Amino acid sequence: MRFSTNVASLVPSATLAISARAKRMRAAGESVIDLSAGEPSFLTPQVGIEAGVEFVRSGKAGYPPTPGIPALRSAVASYVNATTTLARVEPADVLISAGVKQALFNAAFCLFESGDEVLVPAPYWPTYLAIVELSGATPVVVPTDWANGFRIDVSDLDRLASPATRGLFLNSPSNPSGDVYDRDLMAEVAAWAAANDVWIISDEIYRRLYYDGDSAPSIYDVPHDSDRVVHLDGVSKAFSMPGWRIGYAVAPQPVVQKMSALQSQTTSGAAGPSQHAAAAVLASPERDHIVGDFREILRRRRDMAVSALDGVSGLEARVPAGAIYLYARLTQTSDSMAVAERLLVEAGVATIPGEPFGTPGFLRLNYAVSDEELAEGLARVRTFFS
Ligand SMILES: Cc1ncc(COP(=O)(O)O)c(C=O)c1O
Repeated sequence: MRFSTNVASLVPSATLAISARAKRMRAAGESVIDLSAGEPSFLTPQVGIEAGVEFVRSGKAGYPPTPGIPALRSAVASYVNATTTLARVEPADVLISAGVKQALFNAAFCLFESGDEVLVPAPYWPTYLAIVELSGATPVVVPTDWANGFRIDVSDLDRLASPATRGLFLNSPSNPSGDVYDRDLMAEVAAWAAANDVWIISDEIYRRLYYDGDSAPSIYDVPHDSDRVVHLDGVSKAFSMPGWRIGYAVAPQPVVQKMSALQSQTTSGAAGPSQHAAAAVLASPERDHIVGDFREILRRRRDMAVSALDGVSGLEARVPAGAIYLYARLTQTSDSMAVAERLLVEAGVATIPGEPFGTPGFLRLNYAVSDEELAEGLARVRTFFS
């Protein structure tokens, strides 16, 4: 089949492909523990279920406004203002999309084009590269070092930036590593971007899944140029609602309007029942308790995973400060693809190798699964490595 140059080099999401394979193996009766998926296993918060169901029952299935229903845009604005220190977000600064993924695509497609370069620190969520390439721009990977907590170094940004540099992706807490940029680093990077007139695309989807406080430092917690920032978040992770497909972008209003125009010509926006469910969760007085309860369970599972892998020869894992993943370093090989394949086939544990994240030699394990599955998966990993 001959495809257009738009998608000629596009490949399916490696992480979704591995999870799909694990599910197929399970469906075929094999005993597979799936630590590959990028989602928490909690149920949707009750307040969201009720609002979603009530809206479905109302039968009001008209098109929602393309940039999002007013109740959700205002709930997002209030949520961001309440949970960061320097944000001054208005509902008109918010675009609701079918997940952060669509919001990220909208942002990249509206801001970048052929001839532009966009800085992407490694390890990166693979979708960033795909989305930058779909916009026609060229991703420029910023290398980092595991020993240094995968922190970016502003001198590397200086070295890799060129007159064509238009954007910089940030993802703290990180998928895949769970590492978090502290406030000083966030401030340093924000100042660099402002001085170089570079857009910061700050994907903060794991911001509230942070174990050293209530919220990991946001781009809105440090001085920044709000005319050059797109902040992204949603309900998939912190509120365990990935299948509802609700994410959002906060950006300067002309950018929100352009992204909305793009959305109006592609998907017409996010599904109405999902928007009502997300609005109810974000506006709920229980909102921060919901995240807090999830966080405590996840913290326990994170610690369980770190201590289970402690002392396993061939693997080195440190305690991640955020997100839902352990990013374990393989000490004897950099061919993590081969190790992940053997781990799946021989031990029945699905993980994601480091290659798609731009850092071969690591395995990503999602610890946001049930206690039983996690214990069994970790026991199998230990046996496999021993
Ligand atoms: C870093 C990161 N950003 C965005 C997303 C996608 O989020 P959504 O479900 O809102 O599209 C994910 C999902 O795995 C992610 O890990």
